[in-house]
Order: sequence, then structure tokens, then C-alpha cells
Amino acid sequence: MAYNLLKGKKGIIFGALDENSIAWKTALKVHEEGGEFVLTNAPIALRMGKINELAEQVGAEVIPADATSVEDLENLVSKSMEILGGKLDFILHSIGMSPNVRKGRSYGDLNYDWMLKTLDISGISFHKVMQVAEKQDAMNEWGSIVALTYIAAQRTFPDYSDMAQAKAVLESIARSYGYRFGKLKKVRVNTISQSPTPTTAGSGVGGFDVFLDFADKMSPLGNATAEDCANYIVVMFSDLTRKVTMQNLMHDGGFSTTGISEDIINQLSGQ
Ligand SMILES: NC(=O)c1ccc[n+]([C@@H]2O[C@H](COP(=O)([O-])OP(=O)(O)OC[C@H]3O[C@@H](n4cnc5c(N)ncnc54)[C@H](O)[C@@H]3O)[C@@H](O)[C@H]2O)c1
Repeated sequence: MAYNLLKGKKGIIFGALDENSIAWKTALKVHEEGGEFVLTNAPIALRMGKINELAEQVGAEVIPADATSVEDLENLVSKSMEILGGKLDFILHSIGMSPNVRKGRSYGDLNYDWMLKTLDISGISFHKVMQVAEKQDAMNEWGSIVALTYIAAQRTFPDYSDMAQAKAVLESIARSYGYRFGKLKKVRVNTISQSPTPTTAGSGVGGFDVFLDFADKMSPLGNATAEDCANYIVVMFSDLTRKVTMQNLMHDGGFSTTGISEDIINQLSGQ
């Protein structure tokens, strides 16, 4: 059911790779709620992914941008304002990649050039997006910027490797830039900390299926799905959350505040 929560709002959605992507589901929901947007992804992902199918479905244009390249981001933001006919009300940063995780390097044997890439792609790119938006005066007042994160920024999940550091950087940037953008333009900046979700990025983490099952059994409401996440993002882009800013918002079915669940106790005690 749609409520027109985003009628008249314009934005940019990063990170839709295929129909499992959180950004893909979000694009569908934002469209359903009346929002207009430009879709973007890294040039290589555009070649390999299926973003044009989504673009057709939601009537959006696609502009390639490597989120680590300020030049690409400048082009993306200025072209998006041209295409959408005005400033932006929302941005979704749904980007994550670690060469160390992808290539199976253990945490005691990290390649540091790759670690810097992880931090740049998955953390610092969020700063780059906002700095470019600020310099181009691209955000409307009361706009909303959201990035997706994971609880490994606060607690250790061994196979998450250097992505844990990248997410800590990302969440910290949301607070620092949230203060700045709030003062400058009344723009709010938040991160949403999502349950494990079966996507390309998610499944890249070792032992993902067990991980998914564990989180589900630990969460009184069960794991939040990509579609649940898309709904939450819509609310965060809507005018119903104007004073929520600089927060890391847990969207995890209760996982983060559960010590142990009956399901896990039963499983461990063989019941
Ligand atoms: N899947 C999970 O379990 C989970 C849980 C919590 C948070 N998240 C976060 O959600 C976000 C979206 O991931 P997803 O699970 O939908 O997976 P996904 O693989 O569908 O999306 C990740 C996206 O990042 C893009 N990307 C990688 N490098 C890029 C670059 N240099 N420039 C621009 N884009 C680039 C990829 O092309 C891809 O579209 C990520 O930040 C991820 O860390 C995922």
C-alpha cells in the first residue's frame, strides 16, 4: 500500500546491483511513494549488473559514478539536478566492498593497500558524497541522507574483517557531517544498521548462511529483510522524521539488545 510519503521529493540512490540489493528494493518503494530519483553505481557494476531493468521499471536515469572519485561524484550531482529539475531531498548511500574479504585474506594477513580501498569505498565515500553535495549547494532544506551500516562497527564478527573499521568510519562521518549539514541546511544524516541480508555484498562474508540463521534466532522479531529496510528508508526520507539526525538506527528485529534468546538456548542444549 502506498501513502505518497515522498510525493514531489527528488534524490539519488547509490548501490542497486541486482534485485536482491537493498538499494534496488528501496528504489521500488521510493518510486511507489511518489519520489523521483537518479540511479547510480560504479561503472564496472553497471556493466555486470542489471540496473537498466530497474531504471526502466521506475522511469529513472542511470549515471555511472565510482563513489571514491570526487570528479565522478561532481558530475553525478550536477547532472542529477539537471535531470530532476532542481535540488535534492534525499540521498541513499548503499555501498560496501572489501577487497580483503572478497579475496579471502585473514584478519591477521590484511593487504594494507586493499584495506585503504575498503575504507575509501565503504566509509570515506560517504564524506565525499556529502562534501560534493554541500559544495554544489545540491540539498534542499529538510533533506535526508541515509547510509547503510552493520553492527560489526560496535561488536566483533570475525569474518567481517576490515569492513568493521569501514563501518565505524561511516557511522562517525554521519555524526560529524550530520552536525554540519544540520546547521548549514537543516539536512539530516543518519545510518541504518541492518540485519544480515542475502545480497551480493552480504553473501561475500564467510559463513554467511549460519550467520543469517543465528541473527534470526537471536532477534525476537526475526531478521529485517531488504524490503523491511526499504520501508524504513522511505520513512527516513519522508517529512515524518525531520528531527532525527546523527543517529545510528538499529533495524535488526531486536538483535542488538538481546543477550541470548530461547531459540539459541534450545539449539545449544540440543532441544
Ligand atoms: N547484506 C547485508 O547483510 C548487509 C547488512 C548490513 C548492512 N549492509 C550494507 O548495505 C549496503 C548495501 O549492500 P547490499 O547488501 O544491498 O549488497 P549489494 O552488493 O547489492 O550492494 C553493494 C553495492 O555497492 C556498490 N559499490 C561497490 N563499490 C563501489 C564503488 N566504488 N562506487 C560505487 N558503488 C560501489 C556495488 O556495485 C553494489 O551495488 C552496504 O553498505 C552494505 O554494507 C548489508
